[in-house]
Amino acid sequence: MQTDVRPESMPRINTPALAESFISEQIAAIRSQVGDGKVLLALSGGVDSSVVAALLIKAIGQQLVCVHVNHGLLRKGEPEQVVRVFGEELGANLVYVDAADRFLDKLAGVSDPEEKRKIIGAEFIDVFAEEAAKLEGIRFLAQGTIYPDILESVAGIKAHHNVGGLPERLGFELVEPVKLLYKDEVRVVGTALGLPDSMVYRQPFPGPGLGVRCTGAITRDRLEALRAADAIVREEIEKLPEIPWQYFCVVPDFKTTGIRDGKRTFDWPCIVRAINTVDVVEVTPVHLPYDLIDRLAARIPAEVPGISRVLVDFTPKPPATVEWE
Ligand code: XMP
Repeated sequence: MQTDVRPESMPRINTPALAESFISEQIAAIRSQVGDGKVLLALSGGVDSSVVAALLIKAIGQQLVCVHVNHGLLRKGEPEQVVRVFGEELGANLVYVDAADRFLDKLAGVSDPEEKRKIIGAEFIDVFAEEAAKLEGIRFLAQGTIYPDILESVAGIKAHHNVGGLPERLGFELVEPVKLLYKDEVRVVGTALGLPDSMVYRQPFPGPGLGVRCTGAITRDRLEALRAADAIVREEIEKLPEIPWQYFCVVPDFKTTGIRDGKRTFDWPCIVRAINTVDVVEVTPVHLPYDLIDRLAARIPAEVPGISRVLVDFTPKPPATVEWE
């Protein structure tokens, strides 16, 4: 078993050669820990769980079972990318669970942000535990815990489990091969494992997903509008020479007056937020070029039914948090 303390002698993994040697060491460590046992992994498609999945596939192949829960709050194209990269290209043993209706039914009419987060977290654990119960002979749970999670856990800031409550509920032994790595090292390892840049350099995306950007009580029509607008925001912002740390949009639960085809409409606004930060404790808004804002203001109302107005959130943190709720 590895310790939870990063040895001072451990080099910062910043070259393909260092990544390769880390990968070889971890393959040996994983094989010796799990033997011929089966390992379960909640694969969200985020950087950390994706790198752990790729590493485990290399180490133990079909002994790994990846479960991708689509809670209906993912961004456009995300579940498809997980299925393509892991199910098809890497040949993983992948269980894809479309639980969108289940989550959205539970969330119907719930407007309090913390209540929404609690429902999403609890439902995730239920869905995952149900899938685990269908599988036989699982003894291990792999997690994409990284070193900052351990440091924050030691400092009492947050529990280090990626999916809070899951290990306790399942009672499996943990496999955490990247737990001594910093985020930048996880990315170098991910690239060495052959994962696409769109996965390895993905911007942070909160666990509750689009749920906290479809403010108030989530409705399916507004969530679809948000998903479509978010895809346009990402497409346009990713054309910038320097891609911001995080960029997305919010579709709030109120409407404003507009005009479409010469007729009065009453549609939602879409609020674009792009920020840069080092540690997310303080963030600065990105000075988006006006021609980019012009394109967003033209494209989003033209391409997304239900949205007729585009705004830019230009507030630093503090006083505003990154997410709207
Ligand atoms: P805030 O809104 O607190 O966000 O300034 C700071 C960073 O954390 C992300 N975030 C979350 N991530 N679950 C997550 O996994 C959450 O509930 C959550 N809320 C915010 C946010 O996207 C930003 O990167």
